[in-house]
Amino acid sequence: MRFLALGLVVSACGPQMMTVDAGKNEFACDSMTAEVTLAGKVQAEIFDKQCKSCHNAFDASNGDYSDATRTAAAIAKPSQFAMALKPVVPNDLSKSVLWRKMNALKGPGGEDLKGVMPPGGMLPAASLQLVRDWICTGGK
Ligand code: HEC
Repeated sequence: MRFLALGLVVSACGPQMMTVDAGKNEFACDSMTAEVTLAGKVQAEIFDKQCKSCHNAFDASNGDYSDATRTAAAIAKPSQFAMALKPVVPNDLSKSVLWRKMNALKGPGGEDLKGVMPPGGMLPAASLQLVRDWICTGGK
């Protein structure tokens, strides 16, 4: 029953996923952009607005993203889903669990990374592009 419900959720997300990365390799670090940083933009634009309502000091078990310093520490720890993976591996979208979850993708070895982040559904393409640029310019 649980699997059935999950299947329905996944298929409901299908059309939306198509538009976000249409024609684009979801793991390519090919954007020509100046360095994007947590403190400069990503903390305020992504983590503060979309993530820290759940990812905070009250429940840090999935990563405390409540400010740029805490986010930097949390994303560098091994993922709960696979010790070899981390939420963010600088310049490597494929090994970055955070990127995979934001795109509703499994792990590189087919690991089940659970739900999309944020759980309400994938963020718009512009937000995903900001996260891509951040990870692809060093993830600092
Ligand atoms: C409504 C609450 C909620 C919001 C909002 C939320 N998360 Fe999560 N997050 C969770 C929960 C619960 C888990 C653990 C279960 C899971 O992974 O599905 C989790 C797990 C994760 C993990 C896995 C960490 C690991 O150990 O590998 C990452 C990465 C992550 N979230 C990133 C994000 C990002 C980035 C955002 C914002 C864009 C976000 N989350 C927004 C609740 C939330």
